[in-house]
Amino acid sequence: DKGAYPYYMLKEIDEQPGVMRSLIKHYVAEDGSIKIAPELLTKLNNADRLYIVAAGTSYHAGLVGREIFEGLTKIPTEVHVASEFAYNPPLLSQKPFFIFLTQSGETADSRQVLSLVNQWGYQSLTITNVENSTLSREATHTLLLYAGPEIAVASTKAYTGQIALEALLAKAMGAQKGLTTAANFEVAQELTKVANGMQELVDEKAQIEKIATAALATTRNAFYIGRAIDYDIAQEAALKLKEVSYVQTEGFASGELKHGTIALIEKDTPVVAIITDAKTAKHTRSNAQEVLARGANVIYIVSRALAEEGDQIVLPDVHPLLTPLLAIVPCQLLAYYTSLQRGYDVDKPRNLAKSVTVE
Ligand code: F6R
Repeated sequence: DKGAYPYYMLKEIDEQPGVMRSLIKHYVAEDGSIKIAPELLTKLNNADRLYIVAAGTSYHAGLVGREIFEGLTKIPTEVHVASEFAYNPPLLSQKPFFIFLTQSGETADSRQVLSLVNQWGYQSLTITNVENSTLSREATHTLLLYAGPEIAVASTKAYTGQIALEALLAKAMGAQKGLTTAANFEVAQELTKVANGMQELVDEKAQIEKIATAALATTRNAFYIGRAIDYDIAQEAALKLKEVSYVQTEGFASGELKHGTIALIEKDTPVVAIITDAKTAKHTRSNAQEVLARGANVIYIVSRALAEEGDQIVLPDVHPLLTPLLAIVPCQLLAYYTSLQRGYDVDKPRNLAKSVTVE
């Protein structure tokens, strides 16, 4: 029931702080240890490479997962679009381990890959929101998101739930291996900070609505740009906007723009620059200047520590591996309000189904 909310999408955006808290409750013990079976952690840690397989928004959660797993476990990690992997798999390492990210647990493209993985005799883990779903039953292990049902077709809380659970899992793996980076990563504390930051952001919806009205309500196209983890966020932000507002949107690596795509920038083209990664902040800012000089309407979404005078959306500071959890919230809201202003059914965008059970 969506209660007083006009659409499930808005309700589910607002539920994200609660999803963070629910994950902490389910996965963190009183003494701070992570409640994930040691047997699963050992199998993951024995792998020489992790293969994350997913589709759509879950694939984008996988892109962030790569940063998290490599950062906290030091295990090389690849992320694959399921429909590509199914018919054109990469050469595998000696000891692969497969992680399926899937909100519904029913996506046909991901199921196709899991049945290959089972034929090959490799172990797997499904991270899903739906207990007893097909991908959960057919994988060796399952971890649940406990995010509550996601009804809006556009995925919001499942994306942030998947990233938070990846962080809990990577922390547990790294701690089992005795890695200092993982030991120093206080995951429950960090996710609590995220939950509070998300709350601040959803409380400031009116400001995001104004930006959507001014910059996106009538535009033909839009860009989200960033580097490193901010490029991962840009891709998800772009998918959100295009699927509910039908604005042609690209999520782009900001340094790559000048190699061709910058030709599309016209007067007033909205370009949202995402800047949470300290290593690349300066570079994304200079790419934003390049599009500004060609007439773009640049909107900055920036972590507080990196913010400058005039940045429109400033994010509370959190651990560098968790910034997507905050940066995506204003992007979800921009998509929501743009769809609303254009008069669309936000929860049921055209041509889309909640769970895609055909290949
Ligand atoms: C976009 C969206 C889709 C799904 C994709 C995979 O908002 O919801 O891109 O993420 O179809 O679905 P799951 O996660 O159920 O495997």
